Amino acid sequence: MCGIVGYIGTKPVKEILIDGLRELEYRGYDSAGIVVLQNHQFSLFKAVGKLINLEEKASLFESTGFSIGIGHTRWATHGKPTELNAHPHVGAVSYVVHNGIIENYQELKNSLTHEGVQFVSQTDTEVIVHLFEHHLSNVGTPFEAFKATLAQLEGAYALLLVTASEDKTIFFAKNGSPMIVGRRGEDETFFGSSDAALIGKAQEVIYLEDGQYGYATAETITLFDPHHHALQSRFTPLSVTKLSAQKEGYRFFMEKEIYEQSTVLADTLMGRLREDEIYFEELPSDLFEGICEIKLCACGTSYHAAMVATYLLERHAKIRTSVEIASEFRYREPLLTPDTLFVVISQSGETADTLETLKMAKKRGLKTLVICNVDNSSMVRLADASILTRAGIEKGVASTKAFATQVSVLWMLSLHLAGLRQTLEASEIGRQISVLRTLPSVVKVENSTHEQLRRLSKRYLHGHGFFFIGRDVFFPLALEGALKLKEISYLHAEGYPSGEMKHGPIALADPELFTIALLPEHKLYDKTKSNVEELSARDSTICSLSPLDFDKADDHIRTHSHSDYMAEFFEMMVILQLFSMEIAIRLGNDVDMPRNLAKSVTVE
Ligand code: M6R
Repeated sequence: MCGIVGYIGTKPVKEILIDGLRELEYRGYDSAGIVVLQNHQFSLFKAVGKLINLEEKASLFESTGFSIGIGHTRWATHGKPTELNAHPHVGAVSYVVHNGIIENYQELKNSLTHEGVQFVSQTDTEVIVHLFEHHLSNVGTPFEAFKATLAQLEGAYALLLVTASEDKTIFFAKNGSPMIVGRRGEDETFFGSSDAALIGKAQEVIYLEDGQYGYATAETITLFDPHHHALQSRFTPLSVTKLSAQKEGYRFFMEKEIYEQSTVLADTLMGRLREDEIYFEELPSDLFEGICEIKLCACGTSYHAAMVATYLLERHAKIRTSVEIASEFRYREPLLTPDTLFVVISQSGETADTLETLKMAKKRGLKTLVICNVDNSSMVRLADASILTRAGIEKGVASTKAFATQVSVLWMLSLHLAGLRQTLEASEIGRQISVLRTLPSVVKVENSTHEQLRRLSKRYLHGHGFFFIGRDVFFPLALEGALKLKEISYLHAEGYPSGEMKHGPIALADPELFTIALLPEHKLYDKTKSNVEELSARDSTICSLSPLDFDKADDHIRTHSHSDYMAEFFEMMVILQLFSMEIAIRLGNDVDMPRNLAKSVTVE
């Protein structure tokens, strides 16, 4: 997702900024920009697409002597990836770069517009620079204006601001999004939204805490706490390697990506939730016209997300929905009718099997939609419409945050369609939207839970196999839990609908068969419980996940009590991901690059 860099000093500023942004490229972005202030002159460069485009735009620019600069890579959320929407955002005499979401931006924008301010972008960020300049014209100093600006911002932000009258200073603030200040020697100051941007440049850094803000020159960093008390700058040496910086202290990318789910889900939901309706800016208004059926197609984890969608779309939007594994669908001569919306789901947008089904559907004249994490991927370019999941780059081969964002998009899609087809009361859509809003906190990993799973994992290293079982949407979740475990631990694991065990698989039950039972409070609890009891009676080793006590389990992972089964779904999803990862780590496997697997499967 977005990245921030900043520099104050005498070295070539353009190169330092672009080099820092390059280190943040792995997070994903679709436009970039820098602004340099030197000899009272601003030089601004922005470009859509890769950093090479920005480098070309700025190729004639060179700095000599002292200068300050800020830069940004943007992953579009509010507004399309255009130059106007790229950061830095511009006022009359000031520039800002920002990561996060200004939740009250519309309100601020309305009042600034009322005063005659003209906005040129569709972003939430632009309000910051205009608000700052509004205060600058009323209060004494840029710093007072900066403080007054921060006091009005609601939401998450990490931001850097420069203004003409203080041409040796960068103003900074952090609340909810990461920001690091670094220095080298006595006369260079750096900023970065992650260690990665500062490695090889800064020697020591301060990891800002939420609510901290201040201003920096080349020689000094002046820092305040959220109550406006001055703080002493406490630096720590920056000694990490590039790779560990990208992992941000986590042992594996998969672990980082599991922990990241809270922030990426906030991005996925951003701008799409209204009080009692779901809004997808990107969907053509006639997409669902004449559509009586939905056909979903995908592979692997994306297929499991699609399976979840079949429950939600039929339940909420009352529309016939089916799902197919792409590699099967391709060759079975399927009957396709033009009243079917064909939906493919793919993290990469490049999976060969899924891409081919999309081509087939297009050839047969069906309307097509892709739910994808990668803008400009083959599927996004080909489909009639696309919804981006906004998970940021996923490096771990075992998909985690991509799945979380796919399911949340599909859930939103089911509510969007329910609204259009009037199959759910507005109040029910509103209730579910309030549950969607809780997802970023539901998926936050608690230390105690992770520690329990780490300890528990040592009991599940051997045995002759795992069954992950659940009902309803917890069945595809069980499939996904089993797939995660297989992929990275190489242990045999299967997902099953819990009601199906008695039709055959229960023959395998014995103490060496591990059953991971998903027992949500709000979806078919008693039915699932009976199925798990049947396995327990046959001496299978049971590990249950539930907010309710379950005395037949050998191990019990207590989940939180939620008001809705979908919130339970997301909490259990995180537990299954961590459980697999901890087992794989104990087995000494390469969690990020499991044997025989590739991240993007572009062959049949
Ligand atoms: O990029 P896609 O979502 O189309 O990829 C589909 C599968 O290859 C992918 O989900 C795979 O199953 C992952 N390794 C799951 O962790």
